[in-house]
Amino acid sequence: MFVKQGGQYTVYLWGRRVRKVPHSPRRAQFIFRLRWANGQNKEEIRKQALESVENGRRSAKAMEDLSKRYPEVYRYLCKPRFSRSGSYSQQRVKTLEEVFARQDHAANVRVLEAYAAALIQEWRYGFFETEFDLTENSGFDADGNLVLLDFGDIALDKTEVERIIREKRWLLDWSYTNSLPKDLRKPFARIMADTLTLANLKRHWGAALQPSLSEQS
Ligand SMILES: Nc1ncnc2c1ncn2[C@@H]1O[C@H](COP(=O)(O)OP(=O)(O)O)[C@@H](O)[C@H]1O
Ligand SMILES: [Mg+2]
Repeated sequence: MFVKQGGQYTVYLWGRRVRKVPHSPRRAQFIFRLRWANGQNKEEIRKQALESVENGRRSAKAMEDLSKRYPEVYRYLCKPRFSRSGSYSQQRVKTLEEVFARQDHAANVRVLEAYAAALIQEWRYGFFETEFDLTENSGFDADGNLVLLDFGDIALDKTEVERIIREKRWLLDWSYTNSLPKDLRKPFARIMADTLTLANLKRHWGAALQPSLSEQS
């Protein structure tokens, strides 16, 4: 069984699905210290690790609820099945890191466009992935749809999303500065700035949500 590890989960790859087991606060601190130390002091790293674990739990719960109500969200999140322990299993997909490495520049720019379009779709369902680490956290499923495999950093609050847009947060995160292939940085910055605008947010935020039964009466 091949194993991968992010900050929030240990991932077991079996066959066509993966199983993700959340890290305990202690384990998360250990991993954060190893990977993201950057000269920060122990207390700062501890705080970040705990926030990340808590955010992961909150985000997964929100996505569990949403994916039960909306089949298109369920597919977009790689068909997750949740267990009480906080673990979940999911369809195994091809990460964008693998895709970017195999295709030419023009095809990769089209992937960036599909990624930005997928973020607008998230807005329509009232959520927003805010890590922007697309090489590791997004991928393509067997049907060729762009999907989100890591939903551990989700914003649900429109005011927070507005702040992220104003700051162009996607240019500050590790993904843009480190994980995205260099030739894709300029097109990424352009496509994201053109797509993730306050006007688009106003138009799309929550547009696909149906009022719940209790709100209809
Ligand atoms: N559904 C999946 N299909 C293929 N690989 C996956 C899948 N889910 C996770 N992985 C791999 O495991 C890594 C860590 O999983 P992820 O869900 O991103 O955990 P974390 O929240 O800890 O970052 C990913 O970057 C990816 O390489
Ligand atoms: Mg991840």
